[in-house]
Amino acid sequence: MVNCLSVRKADAEKTREFLIKNGLLNEMYKVKNMNDRVYFPLKPGATLNNLIKELPGSELTENVCKLKTKSCTPQLKDLLSSRLPGYDKKIFPRSYDVIGDLMLIKLKNELWNERFNIGSIIKDNFNRIRGVYAKKGGVEGEFRVRDIECVGGECNPVTVHVENGCRYHLDLTKVYFNNRLSSERRRIAEQVTPGESVVDMFAGVGPFTVLIAKKNVKVNAIDVNPDAIFYLKKNITENNVKENVNVFLGKAEEIVETYLVNKADRVIMNLPSNSINYLKYACISLKDTGGIIHIYFFSDVKEFNIKLKKIEDTVKESAYNIKANNVRRVREIAPFKYIYVSDLTLH
Ligand SMILES: C[S@@+](CC[C@H](N)C(=O)[O-])C[C@H]1O[C@@H](n2cnc3c(N)ncnc32)[C@H](O)[C@@H]1O
Repeated sequence: MVNCLSVRKADAEKTREFLIKNGLLNEMYKVKNMNDRVYFPLKPGATLNNLIKELPGSELTENVCKLKTKSCTPQLKDLLSSRLPGYDKKIFPRSYDVIGDLMLIKLKNELWNERFNIGSIIKDNFNRIRGVYAKKGGVEGEFRVRDIECVGGECNPVTVHVENGCRYHLDLTKVYFNNRLSSERRRIAEQVTPGESVVDMFAGVGPFTVLIAKKNVKVNAIDVNPDAIFYLKKNITENNVKENVNVFLGKAEEIVETYLVNKADRVIMNLPSNSINYLKYACISLKDTGGIIHIYFFSDVKEFNIKLKKIEDTVKESAYNIKANNVRRVREIAPFKYIYVSDLTLH
């Protein structure tokens, strides 16, 4: 049984705000609209005499609001802690990534033996999820692929992810993909102007390349991972941008020196683990007149200035001048460690 507070529709927003602010709204139940009144489910023991006084016409009733059903996305932490009561709630993951119809979770060591139980709880409660994968380590190696294990649902890591209106086929076990960079990719694509020539040095399955090529701009896209190139080609076709993209399988430094010297108005360097060591090649691919380089790099606060200096020195050694250098944090990747991007305008 759940107590509900019913109010006139006109008072609904004010009431909702009051209940949330005072921790009185019971989020396990649905708010109900009925006959010009709105019914708010209340937490057990909520005392509302004051509110009833403040809101003439409000009433307490019982059992009008229904429990939220499976179609409402549950909070992962609440869901898992209610199903696995032997553990401290704090150790359950709060966040997760959804890539296509796959969910990617990170479990603390204490929960690793429960991974298959957790996978099946998630599969049963998240309607859109086909398969659940747990992270076993970080993003590693030249191809920047993450070690993951299937822990629930269908164990097929190939999916289609929709981002910024484009569709990306990918295999989570063979290529890099980070759904948390979608707004950063949009930010870059919005700066690109018609007629530009772009080099995407570390293109992966193409989330920068495809979005930019959609603007009718020519992109040279490079990656060293054959699986990334397989999906990049598929994604170029799927998103109808084949005319605008040249694909290169190989090491960016070699491809640039062989095919792309003085070709680019803009270069994208999304290899934050090692990009600074390739900056020289980004400069080689820029037109003589200069252009823009977006270079992503990892840094904690301490080494930030050293990295920035290295970027500036490399540019100078490449005989360009820095007209502007806008540096911003893209996102936190660990406590006090971030992905930064430096938007360098060179001439
Ligand atoms: C962090 S991922 C970024 C992929 C893509 N830009 C994205 O946003 O999803 C870096 C990519 O660079 C590729 N890579 C690593 N070293 C490379 C090199 N020397 N030349 C070309 N590609 C390289 C990896 O295979 C990987 O796909």
